[in-house]
Amino acid sequence: CGIVGYVGKRDCTEVLLNGLGKLEYRGYDSAGIAVFQDGKITVAKSKGRLKDLEEKMEREGRPFGHVGIGHTRWATHGEPSDVNAHPHSGGRVTIVHNGIIENYKELKDFLAGKGVTFTSDTDTEVVAKLLDYRYNGSPIQTISETVRDLEGSYSLGIIFADHPEQVYAVRCESPLIVGVGKGESFIASDVPAIIEYTRDYYLLEHEEIAVLDDNGVQIFDAFGQPVKKELKTADWDVEAIGKGGYAHFMLKEIHEQPNAIRNTILPRIQDGLPNLEECGITPEVLREFRHIQVVACGTAMHAGTVGKYVIEKLARVPVTVDIASEFRYREPLVGEGDLVIIISQSGETADSLAALRLAKSLGAKTLAIVNAMGSSIAREADMLIYTHAGPEIAVASTKAYMVQIAVMYLFAFELALAVGNIDETECRRLVKLLQETPEVITGILEHKEQTQYIASSLITADSLLYIGRGLDYALSMEGSLKLKEISYIHSESYAAGELKHGTISLITENMPVIAVATQKALREKTISNIKEVKARGARVILVCRESDNVDPDAVDLKFGLPEFDDLLMPMIAVVPLQLIAYYTSVLKGNDVDKPRNLAKSVTVE
Ligand code: G6P
Repeated sequence: CGIVGYVGKRDCTEVLLNGLGKLEYRGYDSAGIAVFQDGKITVAKSKGRLKDLEEKMEREGRPFGHVGIGHTRWATHGEPSDVNAHPHSGGRVTIVHNGIIENYKELKDFLAGKGVTFTSDTDTEVVAKLLDYRYNGSPIQTISETVRDLEGSYSLGIIFADHPEQVYAVRCESPLIVGVGKGESFIASDVPAIIEYTRDYYLLEHEEIAVLDDNGVQIFDAFGQPVKKELKTADWDVEAIGKGGYAHFMLKEIHEQPNAIRNTILPRIQDGLPNLEECGITPEVLREFRHIQVVACGTAMHAGTVGKYVIEKLARVPVTVDIASEFRYREPLVGEGDLVIIISQSGETADSLAALRLAKSLGAKTLAIVNAMGSSIAREADMLIYTHAGPEIAVASTKAYMVQIAVMYLFAFELALAVGNIDETECRRLVKLLQETPEVITGILEHKEQTQYIASSLITADSLLYIGRGLDYALSMEGSLKLKEISYIHSESYAAGELKHGTISLITENMPVIAVATQKALREKTISNIKEVKARGARVILVCRESDNVDPDAVDLKFGLPEFDDLLMPMIAVVPLQLIAYYTSVLKGNDVDKPRNLAKSVTVE
């Protein structure tokens, strides 16, 4: 979910809606605002997108004032509906909430026992009513006492009916920033919501409470004592947050990949060799690790899987990859002498953060590969490599994945050199190749018509398969995820050699199979698997080198890639897979940047 809040001279409704528009990537099944109008809290909320809220306000009245809070929701407790939309009120207190209150049932029973009634199914309403129940005229005291009874990770924006000049906020785990402008201040779940107005902000820490009013911002600790904090400055470009002439953020972000790679790797290359010293990584540190465990969710986990193949091949250090939500609950076998790498675009994914904390508590060293500056995962890991993709707005991740794998390559090169498995000459050769990838990708982006054509052949499919071996398999996982996220076509990725052990039974006449075959050593093996599916009626789309001669009887459509080194091929080959997913979604008329049921940053477990 996304939270915003405003105190200042502007039309508050406009500032809130504008900010929520920038946070819609965090959830978009309902939206709402609460604004002090003539001293009274006026709430407007609606199921659906922000534009549904705006339409509703056009019909029913648009609150006008200078102080208020707003919310865009990704449902956790209670289906998306007008009633479950935020803000929620508890008499004198109205709140917006991001995150989950784990003990809300107990609290609800407690309040019900006191005669309190509820209108929604949300955990948020319970918090609003608990705040109201406890309210003694002192907002700070009420908030700090109430927060002590809440379990879970959350952040709240709060207004009190008898304090019409003020917005309050509290953070417990879920991200929250407080923007400081000239004569105005803001709260927001993320920087894009405020950057149009100010670049200066405080990052609220766990259990800190912020008060925004005409005098500016004050911050208190959990015991109500004032705290002094360092003002941070966002260096994001306002331009980078717009679509810049592209039809969708996703397409823009696909095109930003060459620069994102440059920004991420160039500062870490010195004299033709990787240098990750500023991230706390030196050859001595690297030589200590016996085993590497990568933990992440979604696309970031797929980036980790590419990393596994590359690290094991080059450095001969064993790597396991796990999904964060599995890792954290399976009593993982990690400890001293192990390196746990957490990969996360947002740096706030609840399961990944919990995995990081668990790994630390077990004595492992942790390395975070994170895009969002100052995020929780970035701050808590022992070592940190920022990916410099800039803000990624489309829910389906593209450029963040690209820089995550770029970092995995750099890391693998440095590790392989540190453990003596490759020499400096080989390391320089690999680094040089990595530096060439942006240009090769630019070349692919200039000739993307074939991906549109392939996409047009997929839109009638109900289901399809992605197959590959080795690095091509790792890549297929990402290709398949991208497609299903935004086209809503069911798709699975499968190790090509494993198909015959079950999944091949799914192949029916005309079912599309997207095969990735960029690895020379495995090419013939994959071609045999292609023939197996072709013989059973599949329509085969092959992503391989342009120079590969393919048997026209085995392949229906081909996407030809330029010649490049096998090991680095995933950086190149993922681009047509991203574009195929993108165009399929566009052709199906879907909301490409905001696919149904998904959110970009999942701060609940
Ligand atoms: C969500 C997003 C995915 C993303 C995953 C992990 O599910 O929809 O696109 O890969 O979270 O996010 P992170 O911010 O940790 O990389």
